[in-house]
Amino acid sequence: MKITVLNGSPKGRQSVTLQYVHYIQKEFPQHELKIFHVSQRMKKIETDDSVFQEILDSLRTSNGILWSSPVYYFLIPSNFKKFIELIFEKGKDNAFLDKHTAFLSSSIHFFDHTAHNYMRGICEDLGMRYVGSYSAEIHDLLKEKERERLRLFGAHFFDEIEKNTPTPKSSQPLTWRDFEYIPSEAKKKVDTGSKKILMITDSQNHQRNLVRMIERLRSSFSTEIEVANLHDLDIKGPCQGCLNCAYENQCVYQGKDDFNEFYNTQVRTADILIWAGKITDRYLSSRWKQFFDRSFFVGHAPSLRGKQIGFLISGPLSQIPNLRQILEAYVEMQHANLAGIVTDETGDSAEIDHLLETMAGCLIRFSEDHYIQPYSFLRVGGEKLFRDQIWGHLRFPFRADHEVYKKLGLYDFPQKDYRSRIQNSIMLSLYKIPRIRKKINTRLKKEMVKPLQKVLED
Ligand SMILES: Cc1cc2nc3c(=O)[nH]c(=O)nc-3n(C[C@H](O)[C@H](O)[C@H](O)COP(=O)(O)O)c2cc1C
Repeated sequence: MKITVLNGSPKGRQSVTLQYVHYIQKEFPQHELKIFHVSQRMKKIETDDSVFQEILDSLRTSNGILWSSPVYYFLIPSNFKKFIELIFEKGKDNAFLDKHTAFLSSSIHFFDHTAHNYMRGICEDLGMRYVGSYSAEIHDLLKEKERERLRLFGAHFFDEIEKNTPTPKSSQPLTWRDFEYIPSEAKKKVDTGSKKILMITDSQNHQRNLVRMIERLRSSFSTEIEVANLHDLDIKGPCQGCLNCAYENQCVYQGKDDFNEFYNTQVRTADILIWAGKITDRYLSSRWKQFFDRSFFVGHAPSLRGKQIGFLISGPLSQIPNLRQILEAYVEMQHANLAGIVTDETGDSAEIDHLLETMAGCLIRFSEDHYIQPYSFLRVGGEKLFRDQIWGHLRFPFRADHEVYKKLGLYDFPQKDYRSRIQNSIMLSLYKIPRIRKKINTRLKKEMVKPLQKVLED
């Protein structure tokens, strides 16, 4: 069988993920795997039709398609996303129709599930038969047990293609409301006080609803707010995954384009950030994705700590819970506060006006109160994972992260909680005695609320 492999790593042949593909190839030499380094060659693919055509021809004559990509910021790298956008833009989705497919990623398992959800949705939008996901941890290939797991995955993939099996769908096609937002004039203005507000967008004039939502929100504040358009910034290229930044947060593009300076002097100095974009496939645009990927030069540290963040989104966000989770998790991981998300999907201009005014008020009030919502599993889980990685495997090269983690007290290993350890060993020993266990059990609920009730009484 012939399988086309689309490699989404900007590192091309040097991709960690691709080594997993090579392992499958080694285990199944009877099948031919044809690899295209899509992310790395994206400029060429965009500008030279024959290069794009060569990939399409290979896809059309393949029995199956394997997407191979690192997880980048809850998703895939920006250039890989750009490739997906190009397929839809050029109406080439028929090259994928009915093909069996799978997505293989490597990562440290931080929000790999959202990347996989995204890719599965895209494959289903392309009319493909999604056989499965394989999410490898960077070092898995070094372990025999994991190699066996990968071999079984490969066997399953080829088997499904051979048998031409149907696959269940996990998503519905997105439906876009045909609605033109007509804003009213903002009568009440929210007093911005001394707050520095920065709106970042990738909007283009033809995206009418988005442009109007931006203007309506802008005019809801008492003073002029700054708006930066990502298309006006000179951003030379996507994150290359080179990790040169990890040691002291110096990006290889530093001084060569606008991004790092913009992030350090505009984004990080704002009190309030409003991010505005239009849904493109099942995320925002690849330009927005490039913004997130390039911000990797600050490492795993929460670089937007204490800020208020609001989103303006044009498109059917409520149909993409995966994207909402990404936005929520991103804000939580930044130790920032999600002040609101307003979309145009209600199809009611007056309601959108009202929601925008409410969001403007919340952004200012929360900023003045320094309010950050309590965090959820998204941050608790994510931060524990980062903590262990930066402390362990990733200490080199991520020296800059290690310093920040020490400074922010993020190395909060439970092993150091000596009080709990002593308490636990006493209680566990007592619990072994049936008479005492019975007594403890009758008091368990009462004892749990006791310290909380004490706070209420004080
Ligand atoms: C810009 C950037 C963003 C990343 N984001 C994530 C992430 O969200 N989750 C994760 O687990 N790993 C993340 N990683 C780590 C990569 O997924 C991991 O190093 C992967 O193995 C690289 O694969 P590749 O060599 O095939 O490009 C990120 C790395 C970079 C450079």
